[in-house]
Amino acid sequence: MTKLFLCLHVLAAVVAVGPVTVAASMFPPALRRAHQAPGDRDALGTLRLLHRICRVYAAVGAAVPVLGFATAGVMGVMGSAWLIASTVLTAAAAAVLALLLLPAQSGELDALQDGTPGPVLRAPARLAMLTGLFNLLWATVTVLMIVRPGSTTGA
Ligand code: HEM
Repeated sequence: MTKLFLCLHVLAAVVAVGPVTVAASMFPPALRRAHQAPGDRDALGTLRLLHRICRVYAAVGAAVPVLGFATAGVMGVMGSAWLIASTVLTAAAAAVLALLLLPAQSGELDALQDGTPGPVLRAPARLAMLTGLFNLLWATVTVLMIVRPGSTTGA
């Protein structure tokens, strides 16, 4: 059972977090291009698609902590320090994504559609900064999951 939950947990992380990482990282340069070509429908379409990928896979990503807790439950490691730290960092990554990054992307999209885009340099830079923060948080969680400081099990 542990192995099944762990496989599903890691699969969910790869399948859900991977696309968000790529699409969110592509969004700021695409936004810069859209700023430079106002009214360009292709540029807007690309932004819409990237935002949709981020939104849909963020929702799929909810399976990662659910399966993570299922794995931790059957392994009996619920109180481990590395797991608590990972949980806090995962919550922080989810908050950055759901409360800051996704609303900022949709805000920029709406503004472009209305013909009132945000500051040409500042808006993509802020989105790039939020994406970097999100990526750093989940990459740290992945390292914690593998290294498991203080754990006497595994490698
Ligand atoms: C609340 C959040 C999470 C919980 C409770 C959780 C729980 C766990 C548990 C119990 C394991 C098994 C560790 C072992 O084999 O001893 C594990 C492994 C793993 N987790 Fe998570 N996890 C969470 C979030 C994440 C996130 C956000 C990622 C990546 C995006 C991730 C990636 C991994 C990977 C790659 C492994 C395999 C490590 C290995 O077996 O070497 N986890 N997780």
